[in-house]
Amino acid sequence: MNPLPTIYSSLDNDNEFLLVNSNLSEKTLRKLRSFKFGIALLVICVTYFLSSVRSVRRSNLVHLLTKQLQPDVGKQACVHPKLNPWDKSMMKHFHSVPSPKCSEEDDWVETGNGSVWISQKAIQKHGDITCQLSYIGRIDDFETKYYKVVQIKGNEKPHVLTDDYFRTKCSSKYGEKYENVHAGAAVKTTNDITRERSTLNVLFLGFDSISHMTFIRKLPKTLDYFTNELNGLVLNGYNIVGDGTPQAFFPILTGKTEQELPSALKRAKEKRFIDSFPWIWNEYRQRGYVTSFCEDFPTSGMFTTRLMGFKDKPTDHFMRPFYLEVHKMENENPISNFLDRTFGTARDKLCIGSKRKSEVFMNYVKQLYAVHSSNPKFTIGFLGDMSHDDQNLVETADVDLVNLLKHLKSTGNLNNTILILMSDHGARYKEVRAELQGKYEERMPFFGFAFPPWFKHKYPKEYNNFRTNTERLSTPFDIHSTFRKILSLDDTKSVDQSERGISLFTEIPKSRTCHEAGIPIHWCACLNWHTASVSDDRVKSAAEFVTNKINLHIGQEKACAKLSLHNITRALQFLPDSSLVKFLGAADVDGVHADMSDNTYVDNVMYQVWLIHSQIKLITKPL
Ligand SMILES: *[C@@H]1O[C@H](CO)[C@@H](O)[C@H](O)[C@H]1NC(C)=O
Ligand SMILES: *[C@@H]1O[C@H](CO)[C@@H](O)[C@H](O)[C@H]1NC(C)=O
Ligand SMILES: *[C@@H]1O[C@H](CO)[C@@H](O)[C@H](O)[C@H]1NC(C)=O
Repeated sequence: MNPLPTIYSSLDNDNEFLLVNSNLSEKTLRKLRSFKFGIALLVICVTYFLSSVRSVRRSNLVHLLTKQLQPDVGKQACVHPKLNPWDKSMMKHFHSVPSPKCSEEDDWVETGNGSVWISQKAIQKHGDITCQLSYIGRIDDFETKYYKVVQIKGNEKPHVLTDDYFRTKCSSKYGEKYENVHAGAAVKTTNDITRERSTLNVLFLGFDSISHMTFIRKLPKTLDYFTNELNGLVLNGYNIVGDGTPQAFFPILTGKTEQELPSALKRAKEKRFIDSFPWIWNEYRQRGYVTSFCEDFPTSGMFTTRLMGFKDKPTDHFMRPFYLEVHKMENENPISNFLDRTFGTARDKLCIGSKRKSEVFMNYVKQLYAVHSSNPKFTIGFLGDMSHDDQNLVETADVDLVNLLKHLKSTGNLNNTILILMSDHGARYKEVRAELQGKYEERMPFFGFAFPPWFKHKYPKEYNNFRTNTERLSTPFDIHSTFRKILSLDDTKSVDQSERGISLFTEIPKSRTCHEAGIPIHWCACLNWHTASVSDDRVKSAAEFVTNKINLHIGQEKACAKLSLHNITRALQFLPDSSLVKFLGAADVDGVHADMSDNTYVDNVMYQVWLIHSQIKLITKPL
C-alpha cells in the first residue's frame, strides 16, 4: 500500500510541513487533491482547535498525527527514485523499429527433441533435398572446428543429434542451395553425473543494457505476462555495483568482483583462464543439474572482450561456439551460395536464415527444457546483440520471449522453475548518461523473479521476505546468495552468507546502505536529504505553492482562516549523491576507475519545507 508517492505531510509543534514534489503533473495533482484537501483541512482546523481548547494534550495529538502521516520514506536508509518511464529527457533517445526482415525462404532444416530433419515445407517446394551436416567443435572461446560430417536426406527419419551446433550445406535436385548454422539441444550421454529429479529449475534470462524503465518501454508484452500471469516480483531497489557486464556477472555468478578474483586479462603477462573461479553453476552441477550458459554476441562476450575466457567448456550446454560460427557465416556471407538472395543483400543483422536471432535463441531454451525433461536445469541466457549498441532493437525480441514463457507455462515447466528476467545495467551511451535520469537508469536495471504458484505456500517465510525485499536495496551479490539459498531451501539452518550479499529469501534490513551492500558511492542511486537554503528561490516557490494549494482548498470552508506564508524555518532537498552527478564514465578500459568530471543538471528535485503560516482572518464563529 503506497497511497502517497509524492506528497507527505506532518505536524511538528507549531510548524506544519508538507512535502511536495514541485514538478507534480496536473494528473497526479488531481489524483492527490482529495487527499490533500483532507490533510489541509485537518492541519488548519487542528491548529485552530488547539489554540482555542488549551486543555487538550497538544503533544499527544501532534504525535498521533505525525505517526499517521509520516511516510515510510523517512525510515529506509536507501530510497531509490521513482522514475517515470515516459520522461521527456529520456524519450528523445527512443523510437520504435520495424520487425527484422529475415530470409523469405523458410529454413530447410529444423531441430527439436534432440534431433534434426529437413522440413516438410522445403521438400514440398523443392523436391528431394540432401544436406551435409558438419558438427561444430570448440577449440577455445575464440575458435571453432568442424569435426564430423553427416549426410541427411529429405525423407529419412530425423537424425539424432550427438552435439548441439552444426553447419548445413544443402542442395535440391534442381540445384537450389541452402546454407545455414543451426542449434539444437542434444541429449548427451557423456555426463557421469547422476541426475536427481524434483528440484527447482533456475531459468535466468537477460538482456544487455536494459534499465528497469527501458524494460517497461521496450518489452511490454513480456512484462505484462511476467507480472500479471506469472505474478513475477520486480526488485525496485536493485542497484548495480560496477560499470559494465562483467561487473554484474562476476558478482552474480561467483559472489566476487573481478578485482577479488585472479586476473585473467588478455593483456596480462601471465595468461590465465577463468575456469577455476567459483562459478555458481558448479554447485548446481554437483547437485545433479544440467547446466547451460548461453550468451550471444561473441564479439562482445562478457568474459572474452578484455578477458581470456574459458579454457574448457564451463557448462553442459555452452552456446559460444554456435555464435562464433554465426558470426563467421555473417562475415563470409557468400551470397551466391544462398538460395535466397535477399538474405545476402538485405541481410538483417538480427536474423539467422528465416528466423529472428531472438527466436533461434528462445527455441534453443525450449529444446533444453524438452530434452532434459526429467532433470533439474540451471540455465543462464544473456542476449547482447539486440540491445548492446542500440537499445531500441530489443523490442523485436519481446514477442519471442513472451512466446517462450507461454510455452514453458503451457508445458507445465514453469510449475517447477524459478524464472528470473534481468539486465546487467542500463544504457551506457554518452547521450543517456548526460541526463540525470539516464544516470539513475544506468544504475537501476531490470530484475524480477517469478515463482511457481505453490512456492508461497510451501515457503511462506521466504516468499514474504522476498516480497518485502522488492522495495529494499538489493545487489548482484544478493542474487548470488539467492542462487545458493535455492539449493538449500529445505535446510532450516541458514546458509553461510557473506555480509555483503544477502539471500533475497532473508529480510534485507531497512538500514542497509550502499556502502554495506558493496556499492561504490558513484554507483549508488539512492537519494538523500540535503539541507537547502531557506532563501533559495525554489524553496520559496515550494513554500508558496503549498500555501496557495491549502488556501485554494479551504477557500470554500467557512470554519477555517486563509493563510499567508510567514516564515520558512528549514528546508531539505532530496538529492542524488554528488558523486553520481559528477560521474561521466569509466576512466579506464576495465571499468575500475571512474571519470568524475561531469556535472549533470539536476532538474527534478523534491523539497521538504518547514514553514509558519499566519492567519489572515480570525474566525470568530464557534466550531
Ligand atoms: C517433441 O516431442 C513431443 C512429444 O513427443 C511432441 O509433442 C513435439 O511436437 C515434438 N517437438 C518437435 C519440435 O518435434
Ligand atoms: C505443480 O506442482 C505442484 C507441486 O509439485 C503440484 O502439486 C501441482 O499439481 C502441479 N500443478 C500442475 C498444474 O502441474
Ligand atoms: C524566520 O525563521 C528563521 C529561522 O528559524 C529565524 O531566524 C527568523 O528570525 C524568522 N523570521 C521571522 C520573521 O519570524
